[in-house]
Amino acid sequence: MAGGIGAGGTLTDEVRLLRLFDEISDGLSRDPRRLPEKLFYDDRGARLFEQITRLDAYYPTRTEIGILRRCLDEVRELVGPSPTVVEFGTGSGRKTNMLLDALERPTTCVPIDISEAQLLRFADELQREYPDMAVMPLIADYTEPFALPMPTPSRHPPEGRTLFFFPGSSVGNFEPSQAASFLEQVGWAGGVGSSLLIGVDLVKEAPVLELAYDDPEGVTAEFNRNALRHLNHMFEGDIDPAAFAHRAVWNEADSRIEMRLVSQADQSFTLTPDLPDREPLRIDLRRGEEIVTEHSYKYHIEQFESLCRRAGWRAVRSWTDDRERFSVHYLEKEA
Ligand code: AVI
Repeated sequence: MAGGIGAGGTLTDEVRLLRLFDEISDGLSRDPRRLPEKLFYDDRGARLFEQITRLDAYYPTRTEIGILRRCLDEVRELVGPSPTVVEFGTGSGRKTNMLLDALERPTTCVPIDISEAQLLRFADELQREYPDMAVMPLIADYTEPFALPMPTPSRHPPEGRTLFFFPGSSVGNFEPSQAASFLEQVGWAGGVGSSLLIGVDLVKEAPVLELAYDDPEGVTAEFNRNALRHLNHMFEGDIDPAAFAHRAVWNEADSRIEMRLVSQADQSFTLTPDLPDREPLRIDLRRGEEIVTEHSYKYHIEQFESLCRRAGWRAVRSWTDDRERFSVHYLEKEA
């Protein structure tokens, strides 16, 4: 994923589709074949992901929530009064509520998510719960360039800090160099005085990791195959998702979980997008051939803090659970 927050305009729908199609056609022609993570998150995918976060096998969500419960009083002190909260990847908003309840008189909340229906539902509820707070939902893919819909509040210090909230270890879905450049751009958008509260999954034993991404209930398998359904829907494809098996592998050398879809037969599929100047894309797969659909990087605490330092963020405080499975970091933008 390659992120970018700009003062410039948000991409039009057609340009976004063209770029996505080109990214997909480039990815599917590589070795190994690759699809972008954003394909998971249509409305069905967002619901499946929400189900994943409640599975026994998927420890990150409940572990992060446990850490947040313990650290949010301290975060409230560090952030101070009247903050603006900008959240990347709000999802169901469970953690947003926890954070807002803990903070002192938050003035504005900008929840950002790619899944429109879920985000707008959440924003409505949030506005009802916090009638005095400005709620400014932004439907955006934060891995692409987009503009924040507000004056950068750190330029008006009496109004309180900007706190960027990036929970769920979604930063792990960026390649590390892209994570650094995304966080650097977040810092530029917020300016000196802004802060970042970010959840990061930690390196641990392979079986725990692989179970988290290949649960016995098969929800993650369905979430993975949903990327193909979404692809069919967006680009008039004829892929049979049932002809692919789900696989999750811990790649220790690169410190990441790789989710893959394994072709169960020799097969081909075609995407015939209704886009200017784009030819149909035909892909031939052999039985056993794999398409990588996700990288989910896991970090050591010091490694992540040093990535943040390179991106212009000073580590102020970090918290973890008693098994050191997950971490939450509070950082401030350096001058
Ligand atoms: C959204 N992201 C942080 C999740 C992860 O753990 O990388 C997506 C996910 N993929 C499979 N399960 C969950």
